[in-house]
Amino acid sequence: MGLHSGRVAGEYVHMNGIGIQMAGLSSLFSSDMAIDLGTANTLVYVKGKGVILNEPSVVAYHVKDGVKKVLAVGEDAKLMLGRTPGSIEAIRPMRDGVIADFDSAEEMIKNFIRKVHRRTTFSKPKIIVCVPHGATPVEKRAIRQSVMSAGARRAGLVAEPIAAAIGAGMPITDPTGNMVVDIGGGTTEVAVLSLGDIVYARSVRVGGDRMDDAIINYLRRQQNLLVGETTAERIKTTIGTARMPDDGRGTSIQIRGRDLLNGVPKETEISQAQVAEALAEPVQQICEAVMTALEATPPDLAADIVDRGVMLTGGGALLGELDLALREQTGLSISVADESLNCVALGTGKALEFEKQLRHVIDYDS
Ligand SMILES: Nc1ncnc2c1ncn2[C@@H]1O[C@H](COP(=O)(O)OP(=O)(O)OP(=O)(O)O)[C@@H](O)[C@H]1O
Ligand SMILES: [Mg+2]
Repeated sequence: MGLHSGRVAGEYVHMNGIGIQMAGLSSLFSSDMAIDLGTANTLVYVKGKGVILNEPSVVAYHVKDGVKKVLAVGEDAKLMLGRTPGSIEAIRPMRDGVIADFDSAEEMIKNFIRKVHRRTTFSKPKIIVCVPHGATPVEKRAIRQSVMSAGARRAGLVAEPIAAAIGAGMPITDPTGNMVVDIGGGTTEVAVLSLGDIVYARSVRVGGDRMDDAIINYLRRQQNLLVGETTAERIKTTIGTARMPDDGRGTSIQIRGRDLLNGVPKETEISQAQVAEALAEPVQQICEAVMTALEATPPDLAADIVDRGVMLTGGGALLGELDLALREQTGLSISVADESLNCVALGTGKALEFEKQLRHVIDYDS
């Protein structure tokens, strides 16, 4: 679309006697965006461009004489987690999918918007953010306010399970039951959708963080070894598995931590079988959430889900053999979405791109 095409309907303004077509210009410079504000990661989708920012949801502050100054946000701040001296504080502003620390959430949103927003833009962007289905009105207002004070012209909210399902390419507007299970850092949301809306949704506070904690606790109990969150997450993402390996052991990796008996650093090995044992409880809780959802779903829709299977999204869906473990325990067929870490951002982005068709999934004013 050229600036001078004049074919697109729009308002004309006169600047120094020159007619400028605003519709053409604003869409050319538009930085309308969709944000997946996650417990672990924040992704920003810019209209017409796709996901252009993906950073950990972490803010680091320098604290001096009681005054806090932002030191780093995102990737740089995550590197500081668990390694901060007394003068530096690294905070994760989101817990359980909602804002836990209002000030740092706002700092983070502002920082990320500044990173992707084109300075040349005339107007403030419209921003759509996804929120957990179970977010309270107060939590929703907090997110909306953060986005507005970070410079949005208008703030819309999309329910996370709907965004996840759209992003995973599920036919959510069909009159059939579709089950999506989004396993994030803080929560697992299980939802059944039909005709573009949520029939059933429940969120359990089990996700990647809980898996990391389970690994930390296991090593403390079984090996008297203290490891940090970063090490636990690395163990999970490299050899983590939801099922006992067939040979009873699987592969192993070297890890380092502190020996709790004598307080000195110690290096040891951890095997996949041990990780499977450590993760048994959170995996079981995810299975139970799926079964509970199926039981609460009206019979015809439940039958659709038995036919069509269940779609997993979110970073937790990448846990080794989680799909197999879920299939064994629930009897349902399970798929992991392509780009599972990006599904929610892609789905929210799609709602923004196809706002006319998907208007009903965006909430502008609650
Ligand atoms: N290969 C992997 N195996 C297991 N877990 C993984 C893997 N890759 C990423 N994760 C985990 O996925 C989680 C992050 O997922 P995601 O980005 O979907 O969460 P989020 O959207 O930030 O959280 P929430 O939706 O709960 O707010 C982290 O806990 C991370 O450790
Ligand atoms: Mg998420």
